[in-house]
Amino acid sequence: MRVNIIKRIVPILLFLLLSKAIIAQSNYVPTKENLAARQWFDEAKFGLFIHWGVYSVLGDGEWVMQQQNISIDEYEKLPTFFNPIQFNADEWVKMAKNAGMKYICITSRHHDGFSMFDSKATDYTIVKKTPYQKDVLKDLADACKREGIKLFFYYSLLDWHNDDYFPRGRTGTGIRGRNDGDWEKYIAFMKAQLTELLTNYGEIGGIWFDGDWDKKKADWHYDEIYQLIHDLQPQCLIGNNHHEAVKPGEDFQMFEKDLPGRSTQNFASDAEDIGELPKEVCETINGSWGFNLKDRKHKSDKELIHYLIKAAGFDCNLLLNVGPMPNGEIQPKHVQSLAKIGEWLNTNGETIYGTRQGVVSPTEEMVSTQKGKKMYLHLLENKNTWFIPEIKGGVESIRYYKSKNKVKHEVNSYGLLLEIPEKEQDSIDTIIEITLK
Ligand code: GLC
Repeated sequence: MRVNIIKRIVPILLFLLLSKAIIAQSNYVPTKENLAARQWFDEAKFGLFIHWGVYSVLGDGEWVMQQQNISIDEYEKLPTFFNPIQFNADEWVKMAKNAGMKYICITSRHHDGFSMFDSKATDYTIVKKTPYQKDVLKDLADACKREGIKLFFYYSLLDWHNDDYFPRGRTGTGIRGRNDGDWEKYIAFMKAQLTELLTNYGEIGGIWFDGDWDKKKADWHYDEIYQLIHDLQPQCLIGNNHHEAVKPGEDFQMFEKDLPGRSTQNFASDAEDIGELPKEVCETINGSWGFNLKDRKHKSDKELIHYLIKAAGFDCNLLLNVGPMPNGEIQPKHVQSLAKIGEWLNTNGETIYGTRQGVVSPTEEMVSTQKGKKMYLHLLENKNTWFIPEIKGGVESIRYYKSKNKVKHEVNSYGLLLEIPEKEQDSIDTIIEITLK
């Protein structure tokens, strides 16, 4: 009897589940342009993240308003002394380009609610409230266009300044001076700003949402917002840092400070399935996103290059962050590190750009990238003997990417044994080029 009921219910449940999936998908069919942009993104591999806002004046990160419980009145004084006279969009873009980066994603408005661009939807903008009075995103957009770098905008869903961000979320609760407001007006405000961002700055690579986690139960009107973006610019890729599985309408999946599946930061919810869309991991060059004067955790050049290689081995782009200073300059130490990564990519870029995760699964000390029949093993530690689990389909030839010498190896029923003499070892990455059968 019970078995019979189960037999009847299971197909009905399956049907309901499937039809739900179909409805969700049928809401959004990516355009040709969007699919091409996804492919470009998959191949681009490396981008620059920029966290820049009036908070940089305090040199204590982009969360300073909530960390120090600065009231609305007090925080509103910050823009009056934000005057980044050293800002030079061309220099920033050239720096990114020389680092081997293919795109830039900059904070257009962070959780403090301050717009770093000219907006008619609010007066709380760089143009209206700072002595600088210029739209830095405009300069950046023009410089990016000149250099062939794609521009993405980070956009915070969360806002500690706007009263209409109401009911409030779980952060910023100690900020005094916040009033009650109207959620629907807030949604309209975001739509107005996104329309500006997608109308006044030329072609935009993507919109990078953040802050969903502040109000897990809110109705963000994603359907309308995502549709608006794709209607305005069909190729524009949408990503959302909600730490869950991708939602209909999103074009890439992002991971914060964690390679897909690693979840060492405990951001990811149980629902963060790794999907099929292009992926991106974001990480800081030191320990902070926004400028932090006392941050001494600058990662070494080797750590940064390893992160980029690992990201590629996990089928991911790396979006590497710098937090420019309030004068508009990027910390010289970070400029130097980016140049070093660029040098490495100059000689080894072929093993990164345009590749996808290789057939050999990534481990702590080794990842693989692949383009067609060419697979690159990136050995990230200096060891003489390496054991590589069986490569399905077999191996045609094996050589060192750098010296082009043949690699001494042995194939047995378990896999591939490589012997790497010291003279072939590279202190950053010993790359083995394998042609697959
Ligand atoms: C987190 C932080 C935010 C930062 C973002 C970048 O969401 O709250 O400040 O912009 O990570 O990934």
